[in-house]
Amino acid sequence: IRPPLVLGIETSCDETGIGIVRGTELLANVISSSMDEHARYGGVVPEVAARAHLEALVPALEAALAEANVTLEELDAIAVTSGPGLSGALMVGVGAAKALAVSLDKPLYAVNHLVGHVGADALDADPLDYPTIALLVSGGHTSLLLVRDLVSDVELLGETIDDAAGEAFDKVARLLGLPYPGGPQIDRVAEGGNPKAIRFPRGLSHAKDMDEHRYDFSFSGLKTAVARWVEQKRDANEEVPMADVAASFRESVADILLTKALAACADYGVPRLLLGGGVVANARVRQLATQRCDEAGIELRIPPLSLCTDNGAMIAALGAQLISAGHAPSAPGFGADSTLP
Ligand code: KG4
Ligand code: ZN
Repeated sequence: IRPPLVLGIETSCDETGIGIVRGTELLANVISSSMDEHARYGGVVPEVAARAHLEALVPALEAALAEANVTLEELDAIAVTSGPGLSGALMVGVGAAKALAVSLDKPLYAVNHLVGHVGADALDADPLDYPTIALLVSGGHTSLLLVRDLVSDVELLGETIDDAAGEAFDKVARLLGLPYPGGPQIDRVAEGGNPKAIRFPRGLSHAKDMDEHRYDFSFSGLKTAVARWVEQKRDANEEVPMADVAASFRESVADILLTKALAACADYGVPRLLLGGGVVANARVRQLATQRCDEAGIELRIPPLSLCTDNGAMIAALGAQLISAGHAPSAPGFGADSTLP
């Protein structure tokens, strides 16, 4: 049997993502981001994101169909992110997916955004075996998952108890006077700095926290520590060593992320780690992941960035896997669920 031709729709945050796959083959991955529209607010504004999805969705769909060289009629199924994410943003994608499914008479699959990030790996020529640990780090989430089976057994081990990792980058960038989104800015400035110049705290990573919060993350204390440190310098009329602050902050985030991820790999005896989310673009996160996984004998998978940041291809890929595993389409009554676990 021919692998299913699936359209994936992703609108959980500020990226309108339309992807098309045939089984595990990627045919199109069109992403339209409203990032620029949020820049002057210093963060994603839900209402602005939702409106941007409305405007971007049909053009992105047309571009994806052209890129994949298929028609809507040829599709076998449609998959859509139903949560978690921003309510209004999710509703645009879910509404569009339902309209397409009904008008074209195609089966519709509602999928979980975080599981979608893991599903992206199916598009690799050599996908990871399961079980795997997945570390998903973006502006909206910081989650550690134990994936025993993509379609039937995904366990949330831990997540952030305050800010997401990307959010921490964005907030620290802002207090350093760098533009939004701050992650790439900090990453760039950090390259010229000394990561050991300032010892910023590693939230929930110290021995005493590793019992109770072994897989949870916290970045707000780190952000406050950076703010205080910078304030003291400014109050004393001393120059703020931007590169050192950026490098030391980046080092702390990378250390926290990898400490937690590798603890999970060790505890569950899982020699595989999959990364996902926009923060995976971070040079130090990639470097430290490579180094520590090497030392621990863990197979590390870092998907191409276009499949790490939010995208429709990962949603389509997960939909295709649900179909291949014999799952029935979602009941038509489902809606956007911003707090989907
Ligand atoms: O997955 P993503 O594109 O989308 C959402 O979260 O919606 O992730 C965006 C986040 C932003 O917070 C951005 O600052 C961060 O990822 N980011 C980075 C880097 N590139 C993007 N953080 C650290 N270093 C980077 N190089
Ligand atoms: Zn995401």
